Amino acid sequence: MTARAPSPFIIVAIDGGAGTGKSSSATLLCERFHLLHVDTGSFYRAATAEFLRLGVAASDIAAVRGAIGALQLGTRLNGRDAQMEIGGRVVPEAEIRSPAVNAGVSLFAALPEVRAALLDYQRGLAGFARARGFRGVVLGGRDIGSVIFPDADFRFFLHVDEAVAEERRARQGERDSIKERNRLDSSRKTAPLVCPPGATYIDTTRLTLAEVVGKMAAPIAARLGAAA
Ligand code: DC
Repeated sequence: MTARAPSPFIIVAIDGGAGTGKSSSATLLCERFHLLHVDTGSFYRAATAEFLRLGVAASDIAAVRGAIGALQLGTRLNGRDAQMEIGGRVVPEAEIRSPAVNAGVSLFAALPEVRAALLDYQRGLAGFARARGFRGVVLGGRDIGSVIFPDADFRFFLHVDEAVAEERRARQGERDSIKERNRLDSSRKTAPLVCPPGATYIDTTRLTLAEVVGKMAAPIAARLGAAA
């Protein structure tokens, strides 16, 4: 009898603009293959909520640097989700999805100081996932396949028609200016939103969530030796 090779640990990058369905599809992939879900947008949101709480403006770099120095980041596992703690506290969902954070997050996320502060933290979550017995990690964001894990096993880039994305957000009852955030996130100098060369581009505008997940699950299942 030949021993089966141990299943590999995989890193999956899902990048794309606001409202493309990154989190919904990542959640389903994580359930199916027992992977850790890392929503890096929630990290930029939590940091933004903290800056706003402290009264720090994105235009005041000295104040931003000071606030970053005091962030004290940690990680809490909630089911299959990695939640970022700031000073031992997970910023509540209602706060990170608030209109104030929706309006301010792209301004803070454009600052190289903020991105640098979260870079090693995000990379470290692969080790966090491994240590807790996950078969891999799925990170959703803007620069995962281009900057954080350019050598990820799978890199997907989701696109959606912005009008459709705004409808999806409105149906979730959220006030969010998708177009403006995408414009800021795509035009910033540091780690802009781009489909990196070699990533699999998926236009989700006319696809159901199940169809999007199916496209990503097939190659992952092949790698893990599992049913898609
Ligand atoms: O995924 P989201 O819409 O919740 O992300 C909120 C903001 O965070 C987004 O407008 C830009 C920023 N972001 C980023 O700059 N880089 C990432 N990897 C993830 C999010």
